[in-house]
Amino acid sequence: MSQNVSSRISGFYKRCLEDRLREIQALGLLDEEALAHLAGGGGLPTAVADRMCENVIATHALPLGLALNFRVNQRDVLVPMAVEEPSVIAAASNAARMVRLSGGFSGDADPPIMTAQVQLDDVPDAEDAAGRLEAARASLLAAGDAAIPRMVARGGGCRDLEVRVLSAELGVLVVHLYVEVGDAMGANLVDTVAEAVAPLVQRIAGGTLGLRILSNLNVRRLVRVTATVGDDALGGADVASGVARASRFAELDPYRAATHNKGFMNGLDAAAVALGQDFRAIEAGAHAYAAMSGQYRPLSTWERVPGGLVGRAELPLAVGTVGGLTEVHAGVRAALQLVSAKSAGELAVVLASVGLASNLAALRALASEGIQRGHMRLHERKRALAAAAPGAGGGEAAAPPSGDGKRFAGERAEAHRAVQQAEGGT
Ligand code: MEV
Repeated sequence: MSQNVSSRISGFYKRCLEDRLREIQALGLLDEEALAHLAGGGGLPTAVADRMCENVIATHALPLGLALNFRVNQRDVLVPMAVEEPSVIAAASNAARMVRLSGGFSGDADPPIMTAQVQLDDVPDAEDAAGRLEAARASLLAAGDAAIPRMVARGGGCRDLEVRVLSAELGVLVVHLYVEVGDAMGANLVDTVAEAVAPLVQRIAGGTLGLRILSNLNVRRLVRVTATVGDDALGGADVASGVARASRFAELDPYRAATHNKGFMNGLDAAAVALGQDFRAIEAGAHAYAAMSGQYRPLSTWERVPGGLVGRAELPLAVGTVGGLTEVHAGVRAALQLVSAKSAGELAVVLASVGLASNLAALRALASEGIQRGHMRLHERKRALAAAAPGAGGGEAAAPPSGDGKRFAGERAEAHRAVQQAEGGT
């Protein structure tokens, strides 16, 4: 997004869908194809779906919304989110508005380095074999590069090698190759490298070849974000202290950390799905990283500072702005145009910021009025929709002449008021 476009669009939630799209169109972020796709209601043609995976019988849709108010590394960003859970988009937008008052989110991402693993079993004298593999580093990296010439030509390729003896007794060792993958998520590239170097690995070390596959625990592809939020924006010093205490609770207790991280991933996953990222890989990496110290820990923390809070998050995040779904899915292309990230690293910083915003919104609600009031208000809207759906006994066509139609209209109006309150100011 150009520097002069604002992600703060006042009253966006009050408008009808067509008006929202017109507003977005006016920002000039979307090309003709993206606009036509969104104006047509989004979705995926079944012919495309049929080429994407197997035994296709239809497509499965989710609401696509925009989180507003995000400012990340001094740039305003509109964040598309695909999610069914009420309040995720409103909550992230609200938290982003609070953080924005203190300058927004800032962060950085490591170079896009993925990890390839080659497993060997029954290696005689595994420690000695590890030494031989390390001595052959240059030829192993060259063998990996030879398998991905186009990536090497674009400036990527194999950067480093590590040998880990998992059990000297059983002769189990694993070779890691660290591969720079540009702006791709990189799974295919890394799997190609793992398979290409495996025969040489085995010739050097002996033993029986095992798996050749990426690791989703990409510790050399971390993203870090931080945000400051003032007491006033949060609703007072008591709320801020409550958020910090909630954060400490998660640091001390893996049971709480799991739910804390679920709240963090609420926003991150929703944006990742809209942006066509491999959210299973993201989830696997995030939770493995959360457990790396030996205790499952929160991915983000909030610390009390004079006048407010500082939030920090760190996690592995393998995402791409090229390849994968970007090549086939018009909705993903539209979502990427909205975010306008210039690199995979920039996209990772945006996604982690959305995670931190979701986490802040959840902790703030939990530390003040509790989560249920706002959540249930929004849930009501879903219930009203379900009740009014054709075939649910409350739809227009199915509505009995007894006045049920009017009753559901009342529920819908109530739900509408509720969502306005919950989203107030987004
Ligand atoms: C609900 O989707 C997410 C929360 O449980 C997260 C949290 O407890 O921090 C509210």
